[in-house]
Amino acid sequence: MIEIPVSDKLILKQLQPADAPHVYQQLDISRKQLRRFLPWVDYNTNEEHSLRFIEMMMRKTEEQEALALGIWYENKFCGVIDLHNWDHLVQKAEIGYWVGAAFQGKGIATAASKALISYAFQRLHIHKIEIRFVLQNEQSGRIPIKLGFCREGVLRDSAKLHGQFVDMVVMGILKEDWHF
Ligand SMILES: CC(C)(COP(=O)(O)OP(=O)(O)OC[C@H]1O[C@@H](n2cnc3c(N)ncnc32)[C@H](O)[C@@H]1OP(=O)(O)O)[C@@H](O)C(=O)NCCC(=O)NCCS
Repeated sequence: MIEIPVSDKLILKQLQPADAPHVYQQLDISRKQLRRFLPWVDYNTNEEHSLRFIEMMMRKTEEQEALALGIWYENKFCGVIDLHNWDHLVQKAEIGYWVGAAFQGKGIATAASKALISYAFQRLHIHKIEIRFVLQNEQSGRIPIKLGFCREGVLRDSAKLHGQFVDMVVMGILKEDWHF
C-alpha cells in the first residue's frame, strides 16, 4: 500500500476496500458543498458506490493508469486526492481532490497536492501534472496558483454541471519547474 507522509498531522494512504465506509460517510455529510462542482456526488448514494470506486481505482493502479489516496488529518479520514489520465507515452497525469466540509480551509488540499505532485515527479517518472477545474471553482483554482502552476487555457463547455455546460480551466506544471 502506498503511503505518503505530509506532516505530523497529515498523511495520504492508498484507498483500500476497508475505507469505503469512511469515504461514503465524509462524502454524505459534505454532499451540499461537494455537489456544487462534482456532479458525480448525486449518483453516489450508498457505501457500495464508494466501494466500487475504490475497487476501480485499485485496478487502475495495478495497470498504472491512476492512483487514489485517502487524506487523513489527525487520524481522521477527511477526503480523497487522486492521480488520473496517467499517460505513459507523454509522462503526464492529472490530479483531482475533494475535502469534507468540516476540514476545508485548513490548507489540507494544498498540502496534499504538494506531497502527491512531489511523489509523482520523484517516483512515478512523470514529467507534467495538470489540474482541471470549473472556471467558477475559485477554491480549487487557488491550489495550482499557490503551487506555481501555469494557466494554460480554458476549455469551453467541457463539463456539464447540473444541466449547464461549463468551461474548464487547465493549469499545468513541468517537473523542471517544480521547486517544492
Ligand atoms: C477545492 C477543495 C478541495 C479545497 O480544499 P481545502 O483543503 O479547503 O483547500 P485549502 O485549505 O488548501 O485552500 C485552498 C483555497 O481554498 C479557499 N478556501 C478554502 N476553504 C474556504 C472557505 N471555507 N471559504 C472560502 N474559501 C476557502 C481559499 O481561497 C484557499 O486559498 P488561499 O489559501 O489562497 O486563501 C475543497 O474546497 C473541496 O473539496 N471543494 C469541493 C470539491 C471540489 O471542488 N474539488 C475540486 C474539483 S477540480
